[in-house]
Amino acid sequence: MKIVCAYSGGLDTSCMIPWLRENYGGADIVTYTGDLGQGVDVEAIRSKALRTGASRAFVDDLRERFVGEFIFPALRAGALYEGTYPLHTALGRPLLAQRLVEVAEEVGADAIAHGCTGKGNDQVRFEVAAQCLGPHLKVIAPLREWELVTREMEIDYALARGIELPITKAKPYSIDENIWGCAIECGEMENLWSEPPADVWRMTKDPSAAPKGSTEITISYEAGLPVALDGEVLPPVTLLERLNQLAGDYGIGRMDMVENRVVGLKSREVYEGPAAVVLHMAHRELERIVLDRATSHYKAKIAQDFATLIYDGLWFGPLREALQAFVETTQQHVTGDVRVRLSAGLARITGRRSPFSLYDDGLATYSDGDTFDRTAAVGFLKLYGLSYRTWGHVRRQRGS
Ligand code: ARG
Repeated sequence: MKIVCAYSGGLDTSCMIPWLRENYGGADIVTYTGDLGQGVDVEAIRSKALRTGASRAFVDDLRERFVGEFIFPALRAGALYEGTYPLHTALGRPLLAQRLVEVAEEVGADAIAHGCTGKGNDQVRFEVAAQCLGPHLKVIAPLREWELVTREMEIDYALARGIELPITKAKPYSIDENIWGCAIECGEMENLWSEPPADVWRMTKDPSAAPKGSTEITISYEAGLPVALDGEVLPPVTLLERLNQLAGDYGIGRMDMVENRVVGLKSREVYEGPAAVVLHMAHRELERIVLDRATSHYKAKIAQDFATLIYDGLWFGPLREALQAFVETTQQHVTGDVRVRLSAGLARITGRRSPFSLYDDGLATYSDGDTFDRTAAVGFLKLYGLSYRTWGHVRRQRGS
């Protein structure tokens, strides 16, 4: 049997290599590691996989594809799960699953394996994607099967097999990071009343350590996609990295959230996403001036559905394609600039402009040059209020 195993280089997935071999009839293990901008050395991970017993170890830089095919569609849609979470983990899983299936096909594997736990959302995303793209493949989730239920047991298991332990002193947190954000859970944060400890943050500085004063930046969008920062046209990955740095230094993009998981429980997660927060905010602002009222209101509902669908692991399916097509038609004119002022822990919109703006100075002004026909409001209100006038009459007659 040949198994392609998603490999991060951490303790769980390192134990998975010998465990899969021992428990699946001496299976041949191939690992796969995708760089989604999680700030790790994938070459070091590759060589660790080989030292740990993999027969082959694949790594690739998925950042550009991740941003272009997953993050940007979610940004255009305005997808924030339960109104807050920018979905970085949920967007990464389908891409990793897709690559696992592709690698499995390339090496002629029978199964793929992942290191997700049995009570998280990520197993759902991995496995629904795998079922869509590689229905012929078996999916193995060792963490749902094995007896290594505590970290200590995993460490003993690893030591007995000569697996190198992570060099960094283990923090009691579970962290998932990529270019769109970082999620941190466990430890003290399991108590909903506790403030996240100061050492959990990775992408953002403490707002109290932010530079004094503030900075103003201009983000330019073309058809709903960010293309330039302060007038400088940048490739998507560079733009995100720069904005993460810039806004992260001001302590912008921290979220502390209790969310509803797919598997039925509530969990507390702390998120960071400096670029994600600023880009969503500026994008929404531009939409406010270019989308008509009906489309704008309708799109807000689609945004919620799109976010839930991503969260629920339904990326590779017909509904995502249909909703994305809707979103794309709304983005044609979401072109223009947004000014954002960054200060300690806060991003504020200070200006917006677009060649397609529907804001009409003449209609809006309360000063000279007003073109709005206020006499027309009389007839408008006669009809607009008619049903309520009727209701009001009946109510008075009945005395209720
Ligand atoms: N709650 C987030 C989600 O379901 C993040 C999951 C991973 N979190 C973590 N700390 N490892 O998408």
